[in-house]
Amino acid sequence: MATELTLAIIKPDAVEKHLAGAILAHIEKAGFTIRGCRRTHLTRAQAEAFYAEHRERGFYGELTAFMSRGPVYVLALEAEGAILKWRATMGDTDPAQAPEGSIRKLYGASKGENATHGSDKPASAAREVAFFFPACDLV
Ligand code: RTP
Ligand code: MG
Repeated sequence: MATELTLAIIKPDAVEKHLAGAILAHIEKAGFTIRGCRRTHLTRAQAEAFYAEHRERGFYGELTAFMSRGPVYVLALEAEGAILKWRATMGDTDPAQAPEGSIRKLYGASKGENATHGSDKPASAAREVAFFFPACDLV
């Protein structure tokens, strides 16, 4: 399996609860290298652009309001098979369905407010890493 990058976000619900440090520790313990890390506060328009693939979905308005309501941490994570590895580390979208010990089980509140984001495939990871990080900031 090749070394790859994926885009993670510590979402506003987790940042509000002061869980960013615990989630960063979980990420490092799981074996990821944090190649990029930045705190930002998305505008509604930025959240809409980032999640544009979901614009026809019923939850799009709720999702983009949530993602722009407070600060987030955006992370570029590196590992062997990082995309699937990070999805497994987070667990299912709905924390109630996520495995014991996964980030969403530990820290997520609901299907909407589920603590973290992860890219779902290589094309998404490339787009999402570039959305937040110029190549010169991936160190
Ligand atoms: P993400 O993109 O944030 O990593 O989450 P995901 O792949 O596990 O789930 P996805 O289907 O891409 O949905 C994106 C985010 O939208 C919110 N959502 N709310 N209320 C609902 O039914 C619902 N469904 C999805 C969640 O914040 C989800 O992570
Ligand atoms: Mg997704």
